[in-house]
Amino acid sequence: MANLTDRSESGAPTVLIFDSGVGGLTVFREVAVARPDARYIYVADDAGFPYGNQPEQKLIARIVAVVGQAIAEHKPDLVVVACNTASTLALAALRAAYTVPFVGTVPAIKPACAQSQSKRIAVLGTLATVGLEYTKTLIREFASGCDVVLVGSRHLASYAERELAGQPVSDAEIASEIAGCFVDSDNRRTDTVVLACTHYPLLLERFRRLAHWPVTFIDPAPAIARRVADLLRGRPVSGGAIRPRIVFTSGQAPAPALATFLTSFGF
Ligand code: DGL
Repeated sequence: MANLTDRSESGAPTVLIFDSGVGGLTVFREVAVARPDARYIYVADDAGFPYGNQPEQKLIARIVAVVGQAIAEHKPDLVVVACNTASTLALAALRAAYTVPFVGTVPAIKPACAQSQSKRIAVLGTLATVGLEYTKTLIREFASGCDVVLVGSRHLASYAERELAGQPVSDAEIASEIAGCFVDSDNRRTDTVVLACTHYPLLLERFRRLAHWPVTFIDPAPAIARRVADLLRGRPVSGGAIRPRIVFTSGQAPAPALATFLTSFGF
């Protein structure tokens, strides 16, 4: 992202990107390529992280409140909920509460089943995402003819945060979280793994190296970026890229390693 400016550009659409932490950056990086002229505000609810291990009603209330505050403050034209846990749990409540358009991030079960040759896929997400009725409905509607194993991970999102903060996570720790994805039964092996948490593409190289056999990992970010570009079509194109902003709800400064990583995203 070269030649960024700090100017306030009145014509550019404002896009709010929301996640519990830095996972939504994997969505932001694709959206920003699709629509480089927009003004981006990234809100990381690190004060509420991790979302994946929390009681549902409490989390819905928190997400609606935090996103509502960010909407009031930044007046976005579009909100991208760059978090599977928040989307599968609270997208309906967000849409009921606010009139701004929302783009959610939900497990890419349909494309995974369509492209699987062995018709055996895995959905790797937080414990919340894989346990929710929303995800089970996606499987009922879009996975016919395909065997789906749901793999809930308690720790992977935190591992991704730790890695970015410069605290390395061992191969053994990551391997044990993804092991359940690899099913070999009836002469059919898992050949496709849905990354159903936006933190996980940050660990993709580790996943590839630690996979029990080669599989295709599906990152939903490019599809979300296309959806955002569609929704913003017709909105004025401004003079160039505007420096994005990131807000941490904890109010704490990012660790030095994370700060360097954020700089590479233009923040
Ligand atoms: N990045 C999030 C997701 O896509 C959530 C991680 C967490 O807060 O547990 O589900």
